[in-house]
Amino acid sequence: MIRRNGTAYLAVLLGFALAAVAGCAKQSNEIPVGVYGSLTGTTATFGISSKQGIELFIEGVNQAGGVAGTKVRLIIEDDQSKPEEAATAVQKLIDQDGVVAVLGEVASSRSMAAAPICQQAGVPMITPSSTNPKVTELGDYISRVCYIDPFQGMVIAKFARQTLGLAKAAVLRDNKNDYSVGLANYFTESFHAMGGTVVVDEAYSEGDQDFKAQLTVIKAKRPDFIMVPGYYTEVALIARQARELGITVPLLGGDGWVSDRLLDIAQDALNGSYFVSHYWEKDPNPAIQKFVADYRARYNSTPDALAALAYDAAGVLVHALEALNEEDAAAFKTLIGPRGDKQTAARAKLRALIAGTKDYPGVTGRITLDAKRNAVKTATFLGIKDRQYEFVAVVEP
Ligand code: PHE
Repeated sequence: MIRRNGTAYLAVLLGFALAAVAGCAKQSNEIPVGVYGSLTGTTATFGISSKQGIELFIEGVNQAGGVAGTKVRLIIEDDQSKPEEAATAVQKLIDQDGVVAVLGEVASSRSMAAAPICQQAGVPMITPSSTNPKVTELGDYISRVCYIDPFQGMVIAKFARQTLGLAKAAVLRDNKNDYSVGLANYFTESFHAMGGTVVVDEAYSEGDQDFKAQLTVIKAKRPDFIMVPGYYTEVALIARQARELGITVPLLGGDGWVSDRLLDIAQDALNGSYFVSHYWEKDPNPAIQKFVADYRARYNSTPDALAALAYDAAGVLVHALEALNEEDAAAFKTLIGPRGDKQTAARAKLRALIAGTKDYPGVTGRITLDAKRNAVKTATFLGIKDRQYEFVAVVEP
């Protein structure tokens, strides 16, 4: 195709193309870090809170001069609360932006859609808040800074059985959501082991609006409480419809309830109900109160557990980048250069440093990753009274 007299022209073109690739990734003077999350869609508050937590942390790092004098640049992608979009977003962050690592997602199903891409490319991924055990089983480049659902399920079962003294549970799970299915199963296992019974187990799908059929079946079995391991929109609608049907027993749930929108939608329907979270914003601990004050000053809102976990995920990543620079300044510098074998080796070192995180002082607690790159942390039980959250208990792992 190319005639001999076109060779020089081709060389010039190639030169431009290479310059363009290098230029678009801005690799020489900033550390590109990818973020993907649900900024829109069914769980938009998850993504927005997480993005804000990450930005707050990174702004602080950059104001203090960056990592070893190099600023961190965030590249943020919206996955619209869809697993397919999460995979596309992460592929783009890796291929086009040349990110050194990826922060995300919240929902376990979306983290599971993106994790194999990070693993394949050798790009470390830290999920702030995906709790399904399978997420980090997808490969050694995948880590998390939160506890996992076998623990969360056990904590809920124990609270129901021992603290509230309840014996008969109904379960209402989101059938297409890995987190919901996992948490429902772990809860059931633990509750049975503690002498409780699950008298009915019903299902719905994310996006459903009408839960009356399932709730009617549940009501007939006269449970002591309903365990709803779902995300906030459906949980709030379920609560309202349960009350409309005359069901008065409490609802119990997990971290998927965490959202500013929960009580806006539920109104009074969740009064007397309980759920598990990762932190409590009124904790007097000065580090937590400083984080809450900084976040309020920046966003004019109170950080929820997702913002706090995302802040900590960014912290764990930056801590590893700093350690990499101390251990191997050459690896640190090549990490942010154009891609090649040296970069792959540098990312492998970064991966190992993340996996080796020990006693990182996060706002959601001290973070130490175990052999499976899961954090071992406390759970925080919250109750809902008069449309307000109340601290109930911290449960040790
Ligand atoms: N743990 C949930 C999941 O894995 C996500 C979540 C975490 C939602 C914390 C809200 C708060 O899907």
